[in-house]
Amino acid sequence: MSDQQATPRPTSAALTEAAAVAGYAPSVHNTQPWRWRILPDAMELYAERSRQLSAADPEGHLMLVSCGAALHHAVVALAAAGRAAEVRPLPDPDRPDLLARVTAEAPAEVTAEAMRRMQAIRLRHTDRRPVSDTPVPEAAVQAIVAATTGLARLHLLTRDQVLELAAAASAAAEAEQADPQMQEELAYWRDRALPPEVLPERPAQTTVPVRDFGAPGTLPIGPGHDRAARYAVLYGDDDEPRTWLLAGQALSAAWLAATQLGVSMVPLSSVIEVPGTRQALRRALADLGYPYLVLRLGVADPERRGPAHPPRLPVEQVIDTSAVAAG
Ligand SMILES: Cc1cc2nc3c(=O)[nH]c(=O)nc-3n(C[C@H](O)[C@H](O)[C@H](O)COP(=O)(O)O)c2cc1C
Repeated sequence: MSDQQATPRPTSAALTEAAAVAGYAPSVHNTQPWRWRILPDAMELYAERSRQLSAADPEGHLMLVSCGAALHHAVVALAAAGRAAEVRPLPDPDRPDLLARVTAEAPAEVTAEAMRRMQAIRLRHTDRRPVSDTPVPEAAVQAIVAATTGLARLHLLTRDQVLELAAAASAAAEAEQADPQMQEELAYWRDRALPPEVLPERPAQTTVPVRDFGAPGTLPIGPGHDRAARYAVLYGDDDEPRTWLLAGQALSAAWLAATQLGVSMVPLSSVIEVPGTRQALRRALADLGYPYLVLRLGVADPERRGPAHPPRLPVEQVIDTSAVAAG
């Protein structure tokens, strides 16, 4: 072993790298509403309110789900770098934007699974085109459900519940299209954060509509109808910042598992954004709990290449290393 290999990497370098990897996390409209502060022995996750959707997400629920996904991505990156992360959520009413502190002093064996999960971070993407007619294998569905254990719960919708979801998703789309503030906000983020290469060329004729971003993209959609898609609701017992952050971690865990299993996943959040349809969804779940996000699962057409990731913010804008840079 060379001297260089024998010298352990400083914790702050590993944390900075994990924060950079977390930049690949999914976020509502690709807003990336988070900020990391790197300390010598910990990293802090903050919500970045300037990137919150004030019209669609005034309470910051989807912002927190997005931050939770970034948090989970960082933990996966640390595991792949041989570090066991410890996450301490920080529900501090005096500092509501400080969401969690992550430490990663303990060495961990780098397992093959940790490396596969890390690879899935690079491969995961949102493909909004209709999925193929190949059903999602039941074992894959169950593995995706299992990935959320301990973070949130995932309920698979029955056929009747899918019809209720379809009605709610159409109503939510109509409500958002009729709201000039929502439209302005959508256009703002679409034009800055979602290039045409990641959006379908036109809205597809599907039972449950996916979000129409209001401008055509360049992805050819083909003849798909989402007939073989499965729908699931991520939900939990409480409706508070702590549980929305957990829901984001669950989203990331489920999506990385899906990616590893060749299953395409698309979040549908309009039904959550519009209070009336969120209530309708809650009733459709027979008051099981509070819905956090709807997910479409499916098998993408194997002939089609998936879209690239839309661009991410420069790391200097997202990661503050000033507390370690001097030392
Ligand atoms: C909380 C949350 C809500 C989202 N809602 C939607 C949605 O309603 N419709 C949609 O097409 N994509 C939705 N997305 C996917 C994001 O638009 C996507 O993650 C982002 O543009 C980054 O692209 P990528 O996932 O390909 O890396 C959502 C993602 C998150 C985390």
